[in-house]
Amino acid sequence: MTCRVFAVANQKGGVGKTTLAMNLAAGLARRGPCAVLDADPQGSASSWVQLATTPSNPAVPVIEVIAAVHDAVEAVRSEYDYLVIDCPPSTESPRVAQALSCVDCVLIPVLPSPMDLWASAHIEGMVKEARAINPGLRAFLVLNQMESRNAMARSMEEVFREFTVPALRSRLARRAVYRTAALEGRSVYDLGPRGDSAEKEIESVIAEILPA
Ligand SMILES: Nc1ncnc2c1ncn2[C@@H]1O[C@H](COP(=O)(O)OP(=O)(O)OP(=O)(O)O)[C@@H](O)[C@H]1O
Ligand SMILES: [Mg+2]
Repeated sequence: MTCRVFAVANQKGGVGKTTLAMNLAAGLARRGPCAVLDADPQGSASSWVQLATTPSNPAVPVIEVIAAVHDAVEAVRSEYDYLVIDCPPSTESPRVAQALSCVDCVLIPVLPSPMDLWASAHIEGMVKEARAINPGLRAFLVLNQMESRNAMARSMEEVFREFTVPALRSRLARRAVYRTAALEGRSVYDLGPRGDSAEKEIESVIAEILPA
């Protein structure tokens, strides 16, 4: 099987990139060998796994990206069915553009507020630029930290229409269990019944992004 490579990116900080990347990787690892490439110099994904007292099952190695992202991908892609790249929040870092140039699909977590969406416009421009060299690049917004099903105000729907990048139908609710998982260095799949609702959300994301 060819390796499918995903990036989780948004130059806006604190939108849930690492949370989505780690839990997505845990879900993908149930389908085939999967690793996370930590492209963020903050090293959040690397710190996450170091917190674990019991390792995730199946294991998801976190590989720190030292040089260029595409080189890191090439170095390991033959060993995995899936790779998930956790990108840094900075607009300064060349790594986001590097990731977009070599992945199959980028997921862009956004918080459900117009201001956060506007702040995500920059990554939309980068997706357009990346398609010049990576024409097959798929890109989706993923609404994170939803408070309720009805929380999407009409003003938000209008802001969404300004984006050329579509949003996944699957959304992630604001749930304490996402934080708990991070604190325990594990994924929502590892938390038993506590993680069930979050696990369903991640499974729903995977169903949308993996070709049937
Ligand atoms: N759906 C959610 N429900 C509850 N808490 C969440 C959710 N998603 C993320 N969080 C929490 O929000 C905070 C920011 O999330 P995270 O670190 O994943 O964002 P990030 O985009 O990777 O940040 P950075 O830009 O600093 O890399 C964390 O404390 C995380 O546990
Ligand atoms: Mg992060």
